[in-house]
Amino acid sequence: MSHESTYDPQSGVEKWLDKRLPLVRLMYDSFVDFPSPKNLNYWWTFGGILAICLVVQILTGIILAMHYTPHVDYAFDSVEHIMRDVNYGWLLRYVHANGASMFFLAVYIHMFRGLYYGSYKEPREMLWILGVVIFLLMMATAFMGYVLPWGQMSYWGATVITNLFSAIPVVGESIRTLLWGGFSVDNATLNRFFSLHYLLPFAIAGVVVLHIWALHIPGNNNPTGVEVKNVKKDTVPFHPYYTVKDGFAIAVFLVLFSIFVFFAPNSLGHPDNYIEANPLATPAHIVPEWYFLPFYAILRAITFDIGPIPAKLGGVIAMFSSILVLFVLPWLDTSKVRSMRYRPIAKLWFAIFAVVACALGYLGGQPAEGVYVTLAQICTAYYFGYFLIILPLLGIMETPKPLPASIADAVLPPKSDASGGAIPAAQPAE
Ligand code: HEM
Repeated sequence: MSHESTYDPQSGVEKWLDKRLPLVRLMYDSFVDFPSPKNLNYWWTFGGILAICLVVQILTGIILAMHYTPHVDYAFDSVEHIMRDVNYGWLLRYVHANGASMFFLAVYIHMFRGLYYGSYKEPREMLWILGVVIFLLMMATAFMGYVLPWGQMSYWGATVITNLFSAIPVVGESIRTLLWGGFSVDNATLNRFFSLHYLLPFAIAGVVVLHIWALHIPGNNNPTGVEVKNVKKDTVPFHPYYTVKDGFAIAVFLVLFSIFVFFAPNSLGHPDNYIEANPLATPAHIVPEWYFLPFYAILRAITFDIGPIPAKLGGVIAMFSSILVLFVLPWLDTSKVRSMRYRPIAKLWFAIFAVVACALGYLGGQPAEGVYVTLAQICTAYYFGYFLIILPLLGIMETPKPLPASIADAVLPPKSDASGGAIPAAQPAE
């Protein structure tokens, strides 16, 4: 939260710089002395984990780009060259490819944390909206990155997704031609995707700076959802408390990351992407990477025309709306209480939402036929129902549990307890 600066420049150089460009002061006030609620749990470490993911992707990506060739005749071979000939090329590629999965795993946990603890609510709407912008940019970046190795899934995935745009009335065909840079997915498409795949992560980094700025105005939410009332009692400085906690979580996360990179580097990918792209041979099942599967399931769930809207366009609208609805979430959730800890009914509906999101992920990976489609339709209805009906109604109808008077009250023993929270000694039996 906005607070008085406590930075006190010591050396001559620090004083000189502080008068001209108080960059060190900004860093100190934001990451050393920043007052943070004292009750943040491990779900709050994922912001830091995400920052590390972004840095890892940019660094490995820059080095990969030195050895990669964005041309349809060479792209696939240049990736094999990276894997076999370039020193530690296999490591760079596996870190980058699995890094994308780790990034999405972390971002989904980060977003579900926000949904559960009501972090999107007033006064943090802007912070949430910037998060959704980051999420959209991440999806565009990952989609275009997957095309670059020019394997079968790269090619056919790109074909399926770019073709979706042609369903948009009037301008759809033109948009698709613009995306392709021609009349099918080809060399021009690969070139523009490579260019944008290199560019967008830096745009993400820019929006992350705004995201953290927007976080530092109101300060962190916390598991109680009760705002900081007394800075001295309710908060601790970011360093060393959260630098250490975040550092530990990052270390554990990197262990999981390493397990994938070193022991199962291809487990999250599709084997067909080790076959070079062939425009004349369509794979039996075209599936995107796992992190897109819930949205892919929503896209394919609309198998019927909705009034004048043909099924294909309906699917495209449903898919984009499933993300766009997040932009207006702060105004859909009418509850005054932030954290679901104190919302017993909302907690239940949230748990179902989490199961439905996973189910959509599973269904997106199955062929679009029979019972899979029916289940995907039910889950899609719940997905939208949760945001558009359940959350608005629950805020009005639900009686929340009593909130603690302050963060300190929720986490410290009552004043009358002189033991300081220790378990009282057993009383002798009568
Ligand atoms: C590159 C991706 C991202 C990075 C690096 C990032 C970084 C951070 C950091 C460092 C924090 C503070 C620590 C924490 O609360 O975990 C934070 C908080 C937050 N982020 Fe993100 N974030 C990213 C993506 C997102 C996305 C996609 C959303 C939602 C759509 C989002 C929503 C939020 C919210 C609501 C908070 C406030 C949490 C609270 O105090 O309760 N972020 N983010």
